[in-house]
Amino acid sequence: MIQGLAVVKKSERLADGIYSIWLDTEIAKTAMPGQFVMVNTHSDAHLLGRPISISDIRKEAGQIRLVFRVVGYGSRELSEAKVGDSFELMGPMGNGFPVDKLSPETKVLLMGGGIGAPPLLGLANKLKKYGVEQVSAVLGYRGETGGLFLAEDFKKFANVYIATDDGSSGTHGTVVDAVRENDIQADIIFACGPMPMLSAIKKLAAEKGISAYISLEERMACGVGACLGCVVKTKKVDGHSHVNNSRICTEGPVFEAEEVEI
Ligand SMILES: Cc1cc2nc3c(=O)[nH]c(=O)nc-3n(C[C@H](O)[C@H](O)[C@H](O)COP(=O)(O)OP(=O)(O)OC[C@H]3O[C@@H](n4cnc5c(N)ncnc54)[C@H](O)[C@@H]3O)c2cc1C
Ligand code: FES
Repeated sequence: MIQGLAVVKKSERLADGIYSIWLDTEIAKTAMPGQFVMVNTHSDAHLLGRPISISDIRKEAGQIRLVFRVVGYGSRELSEAKVGDSFELMGPMGNGFPVDKLSPETKVLLMGGGIGAPPLLGLANKLKKYGVEQVSAVLGYRGETGGLFLAEDFKKFANVYIATDDGSSGTHGTVVDAVRENDIQADIIFACGPMPMLSAIKKLAAEKGISAYISLEERMACGVGACLGCVVKTKKVDGHSHVNNSRICTEGPVFEAEEVEI
């Protein structure tokens, strides 16, 4: 794991309250889709880092992309970053999406809800490089008020389907509704988004008899496995606390859906 300064190379507003930054960082060399970084903004009053998923990776250029929603102090400070500014980063952290068992014939379904979509973009990019031919991405948004951020980026790597809460684009409903409406077939699902969406995807995968991997972006504190502030109930017994828990920061954030109680 690397800790050090990352320099802002590009910063842009994608939609209302949604921002993207590309950072120059050594972390890019070993980062994998689904992993995250802890970002420390400059305020002394906020010593804990903010976990943000790595949205895309340019290994050769030594750059990673973060896409985030402004919800509080840290994310607001990040959104105000200018080219040339620097932040303390720690990473890459977590396990990332398991792609080793995929073949070019595997039908992959990516399901991203709102600010859960960013980590799936780097995965879609990687799958294209691996030669996986059938990748569908179902992206869920609020609708007209929130914008369809990243949808155009996903189109470079996947067949994109949209679901919106207000019906202004694509399927009027959830990402699961969009899978049913478009009769999307898959051998494996990778998903990230709000907990109710992930629960629905777990049920969908069980119903279709396919495996699903979900990324849990719940609250974190230390980010390194020490505080137990991020546990999720699992089938597996945790070696640290000796109960049926897993720490999202170290054993996740990606879990096989049937392994976690959500
Ligand atoms: C592994 C992981 C990956 C993540 N990836 C991304 C990402 O790619 N893009 C992105 O926008 N966000 C992501 N998040 C959420 C992000 O970490 C929080 O939004 C951020 O820490 C908030 O910091 P803040 O200082 O702006 O807000 P704070 O002032 O700390 O909090 C503001 C409000 O946001 C709520 N909040 C804080 N953390 C979370 C959370 N994890 N989930 C829901 N609400 C929260 C607080 O309860 C509070 O109501 C991720 C979280 C995890 C654990
Ligand atoms: S955030 Fe402290 S153990 Fe995971």
